[in-house]
Amino acid sequence: MPTAVLPLGVVRPDLPAVAEPDASASGLEDGHGRTARDLRVSLTDRCNLRCSYCMPAEGLPWLPGRTILTDDEVGVLVRVAVEQLGVRKLRFTGGEPLLRPGLARIIAAAASLRTDEGRVPELSLTTNGVGLDRRIESLAAAGLQRVNISLDSLDRERYAALARRDRLDDVLRGLAAADAAGLRPVKVNTVVMRGVNEGDVVPLLDFCVRRGYQLRFIEQMPLGPKHGWDRSQMVPAAEILALLGTAFALAPAPGRGSAPAEEWLVAASGDRPAGRVGVIASVTAPFCAACDRTRLTADGQVRNCLFAHSETDLRTPLRDGASDEDLAALWRGAHRAKAAGHGIGSEGFHQPERGMSSIGG
Ligand code: 5AD
Ligand code: SF4
Repeated sequence: MPTAVLPLGVVRPDLPAVAEPDASASGLEDGHGRTARDLRVSLTDRCNLRCSYCMPAEGLPWLPGRTILTDDEVGVLVRVAVEQLGVRKLRFTGGEPLLRPGLARIIAAAASLRTDEGRVPELSLTTNGVGLDRRIESLAAAGLQRVNISLDSLDRERYAALARRDRLDDVLRGLAAADAAGLRPVKVNTVVMRGVNEGDVVPLLDFCVRRGYQLRFIEQMPLGPKHGWDRSQMVPAAEILALLGTAFALAPAPGRGSAPAEEWLVAASGDRPAGRVGVIASVTAPFCAACDRTRLTADGQVRNCLFAHSETDLRTPLRDGASDEDLAALWRGAHRAKAAGHGIGSEGFHQPERGMSSIGG
């Protein structure tokens, strides 16, 4: 029977509050022995910044409004992921997810779900931080547990050049507000770009360690404007670590697990406390073999990898009245075909049609 799209937050009387294990319905297993538990949900492809590695100055041709899932439709697909497919972590992304007016409502609906382990799913947000200070209280009240904030420079002019918007102060307010709201540890993401922000690497780590923020440096991936990426221009993790080594005593943190960030302990020094730093070597040391992610775009397409060349449309069946079970079956099928790895650097690699802002980071 088709399932009607229910308003967010409405308890479905036909489903138990805690999903019972069902042997006939498996989760998101792929053909390489991995199971996805982590869903990235892009809520919009739009953004109020124009980071040069992500978008051209004029922006991108945005997805037409009618193709964007409504808040209720996002709620249905998130419910399918958690209740039918074993997803335990939800990360809302964009574009810039704070541009989505219904964000708190979407988070509240997700917080009402229970995973196969009977818990509230882990709920986090990847944001550029602009305007976060004004939203954080309502988002935390809705059930948001953590934020990742993108920050590529602490130098106002360089930030403005990089993001093509003079918004560093807004981002810093957002960071402080997330910390004050108790969404700890606040995580900071930095994409390192040759000849652009290598000089920011040391000041950024000093800034974050002093405030207890967890910083993760990310190797730039070929996902931005076409032909804007060149492996020889990418700053590899080894070089980022060498830069950090000039100012900090680092030791590998034990127990990397499946986390993409290679974690390092930062020794205390002078009045600076001890801390941690991550370096995500997505290109030079891909973590594809341990990848537990699945993705949903703002227009309702499932992607089994950032670099996938095909997508599975869930929006059309959803709008045609497909049941949760039908949608789950489509998603499972889409995931089974997940490639073993992204193959960046291998012959024949070409970047996906969609950029990061449209896929969801
Ligand atoms: N390579 C690596 N990281 C990127 N991000 C955006 N584009 C790229 C890219 N080409 C980062 C953003 C944000 C996260 C969602 O992904 O800076 O922190
Ligand atoms: Fe916006 Fe993030 Fe892209 Fe920057 S990287 S333009 S903040 S979507």
